[in-house]
Amino acid sequence: MPDPATPSPAIQLTDATVRLGGRDVWSHVDLSIEPGTFMAVLGPNGSGKSTLIKAVLGVVPLAGGRVDVFGRPAGDGGGDIGYLPQRRSFDPGMRVRGIDVVRMGIDGHRWGLPLPWGAARRTRDARVDEVIDLVGAAAYAHRPIGEVSGGEQQRLLIAQALVRAPRLLLLDEPLDSLDLPNQGAVAGLIADISATLGITVLIVAHDVNPIASALDGVVYVAQGRVVSGTPDDVITTETLTALYGTPIEVLTTSDGRRVVVGQPDASSHHAGPHGHGHSDAHDHSGHP
Ligand SMILES: Nc1ncnc2c1ncn2[C@@H]1O[C@H](COP(=O)(O)OP(=O)(O)O)[C@@H](O)[C@H]1O
Ligand SMILES: [Mg+2]
Repeated sequence: MPDPATPSPAIQLTDATVRLGGRDVWSHVDLSIEPGTFMAVLGPNGSGKSTLIKAVLGVVPLAGGRVDVFGRPAGDGGGDIGYLPQRRSFDPGMRVRGIDVVRMGIDGHRWGLPLPWGAARRTRDARVDEVIDLVGAAAYAHRPIGEVSGGEQQRLLIAQALVRAPRLLLLDEPLDSLDLPNQGAVAGLIADISATLGITVLIVAHDVNPIASALDGVVYVAQGRVVSGTPDDVITTETLTALYGTPIEVLTTSDGRRVVVGQPDASSHHAGPHGHGHSDAHDHSGHP
């Protein structure tokens, strides 16, 4: 029996398996994420990070186990989740203004249930302005979104994901394709959002370093398995070597960045223990 005084985890996977195209992306995953925490989802390309986000959204079927969000089966609480999908960019010729993109989040244009605040237009407009201020996008929110920079577009998309005041924010590689200064700025914004709004934030990241100091924990997806814990516990030579089942080395640079060396690509998991995984010393550095 769950103790009614103990709040449900924000996210709980129990022996969860997702199978796509006839093979397990990951299987028998147990994971619990506490409300109000700021967590990064890490792992090589193709390991199933986006699939994990989609499982939390309840949009991929489970081959086994269960996924619960705030104590309810995933997919039941869509209105409580803000979601920024992976790789969304706007055509330079796109005339839609930033503020309109943010407003689409309210209208449920892209994701979620009909809004609780459908009624009063003034309330909605005030809320749109509020989140635009929150992400620092007021100066360019009235410009066509195709004309603003990648970092500015990401801020507007984060505002869109926040506009319905979600309890859970899921950001799939929001730092992807940004240059280093913008990565740092958007990472700082997301860390601030997590700290000031007190909501649960899950960010899929290629590089943990821009967000490392603000994180409560990491969820590491590799080889069809998932481990979670503090960055110091998970991003270690020992833990990653055990997770990958092959020697991995975690180096820490003099400025405190972590670099994972010897990380095979995700296909080696499917190719078996003698697959063709290649080594990549750059996957976590994010530096050219
Ligand atoms: N709809 C699908 N059908 C079949 N395979 C899929 C589908 N979506 C994703 N996959 C596969 O699932 C694996 C995990 O994908 P994904 O979650 O996108 O990885 P990541 O986000 O970590 O790069 C990949 O091997 C991918 O090719
Ligand atoms: Mg992905």
